[in-house]
Amino acid sequence: MLGWFGSKKPISVKVDIHSHLIPGIDDGVKSVEESIEILTGMEKMGYQKIITTPHIHSDYYPNTKDSICDGLSALEKVVEASGLKIKVEAAAEYFIDSEFLRLIESGEELMSFGDSNYVLVETPFMNRPLIFDEVVFKLKSNDYTPILAHPERYTYLSGDLFWLKKVKKQGVNLQITTTSLVGAYGREPQKIAIQLLKEEMVDFVGSDLHRSSQLPVFEKSMKQRIIPQMLKNNELI
Ligand SMILES: [Fe+2]
Repeated sequence: MLGWFGSKKPISVKVDIHSHLIPGIDDGVKSVEESIEILTGMEKMGYQKIITTPHIHSDYYPNTKDSICDGLSALEKVVEASGLKIKVEAAAEYFIDSEFLRLIESGEELMSFGDSNYVLVETPFMNRPLIFDEVVFKLKSNDYTPILAHPERYTYLSGDLFWLKKVKKQGVNLQITTTSLVGAYGREPQKIAIQLLKEEMVDFVGSDLHRSSQLPVFEKSMKQRIIPQMLKNNELI
């Protein structure tokens, strides 16, 4: 993986790898009009590709590959009809629980992306799942590379980066939410996101856009000086 502070080359493809833009299947956008509003805004910001990542959470959002692909097909048609050039693909944001572990063990193909079979995963915000190491081991054993979404926002970590350093050694990539850098989730996540950047622990950045009302703060976050270097890794996907 590239270091954030190494490359000064311009970005050739601007890619976002974390959002909730398929209406009605999770806590993301409420309508296709809202999706188009966000995608129009992102296209204006220079994005060429969006890999949207609906939640797969057995209790709250029991999505499947089929429900996500059906939603994507419907969205693609509207995007095309709107005349937007931006490419929309879909993966998923998998919630780490026993159902996800069972899914990995079943051998069913996961909704991954990129050459490294990246799989975006999240944990509860308040507590670290006891099966975290087991899930990482099983993912790696099945040739997937886990990306842990928004580590700066988990209250159980609260500034203690020791555990994150350990999981990075296990092969877990870290993805921060760009709006954390401008305080959208409060001071603590902002402080941790900046600290993760300083320690060169961030592998990817993502918008995690759920609502069109988040666009202005997202746009503001993308004006941070560090962002162009950070987006270099996203373009590898
Ligand atoms: Fe998300």
